[in-house]
Amino acid sequence: MKLRSTILAALFFATGIFTGTAQTSNVVATAAVYMPDITHANDPLPEGVLGWDALSKSVDATNEQEFARFIFAFTNITPTNVSILEVHPSCGCTTAELPPVPWLLPAGAKGEIGLSVNLAGKSGTPGALFKTVNVTTDHGKKDLILRINILPPPPMPEMTEEQRFAGIAAAKVDRQAVFKGDCASCHLKKIGGKYGQQLFETLCAICHEAKDRATMVPDLANLKVPTNEEFWRAWITAGKAGSLMPAFATSQGGPLSDLQIASLAAYLNAIHPSKVPTK
Ligand code: HEC
Ligand code: HEC
Repeated sequence: MKLRSTILAALFFATGIFTGTAQTSNVVATAAVYMPDITHANDPLPEGVLGWDALSKSVDATNEQEFARFIFAFTNITPTNVSILEVHPSCGCTTAELPPVPWLLPAGAKGEIGLSVNLAGKSGTPGALFKTVNVTTDHGKKDLILRINILPPPPMPEMTEEQRFAGIAAAKVDRQAVFKGDCASCHLKKIGGKYGQQLFETLCAICHEAKDRATMVPDLANLKVPTNEEFWRAWITAGKAGSLMPAFATSQGGPLSDLQIASLAAYLNAIHPSKVPTK
């Protein structure tokens, strides 16, 4: 649809020149409005038109990464012109970089299409992610396939005894120290756009699920107290003064928005069902 209207606009533009300047037809003849023939645009692109470096490409992305980028290079291997009419990604998350269309490639010309896939909300789940990008030319269309391997999160960092004591000592002076300076490199990994389970794994697991954790760090799956969503929300928001449990709410000097805290409380309440006795 979009393709058709682009081409139609080009046609109207061209006819405008013809009708508007009927007497000066010499000028018109030399005004090179390039107009690809789109008769075959919707056919599959035959072999031997564009020589691609690859039709499918694969990249690895860490679970912290915001974009996965690809470059597809190609050559017009016909003895005539080929025009790229449109590059259309399957997903709104993918943007294409190329010269304005119609993009005329004379015989033998080389070109590159850059593609970048926004990984917001996707990079938390390890595994393969596939996207397709349709390239329409005046000789037919072709799908390019993008594969993004979302890598599992790196294992928790190993700590020396010295670092461990330094951490505890600093947190005793200021329980918000974990969010600052060097501490933040381990304790405050990228949290923008993360909610629920992903946030728990990024922010809370480092203390509460570490196998070498200090004895004062409780196992959240085996708390002796009754829990409910409000219990989780209150602890995450304010932590506990005089302990090593930091306050996570931005209003208390922490890194989390109210929405993130609500998502964490809902997640924890779902995996650790309430043990509050109901009347
Ligand atoms: C820097 C290490 C650290 C981090 C990070 C941390 N906690 Fe804690 N947390 C503690 C410690 C230590 C305590 C024990 C506080 C005390 O002395 O009562 C605690 C206590 C708690 C308690 C109270 C449990 C009870 O005994 O009633 C909850 C609930 C809790 N944390 C949830 C979380 C959640 C959810 C996160 C992530 C948003 C988190 N914590 C991140 C160290 C941490
Ligand atoms: C190299 C990564 C790293 C850095 C840097 C780091 N921590 Fe930690 N921290 C951890 C890990 C991993 C744990 C889980 C317990 C363990 O493995 O010793 C932890 C646990 C803690 C705990 C819970 C008590 C415990 O030992 O179980 C506190 C409190 C803490 N860190 C505070 C800090 C502070 C404050 C800083 C900065 C001075 C800091 N940490 C720097 C990785 C780090």
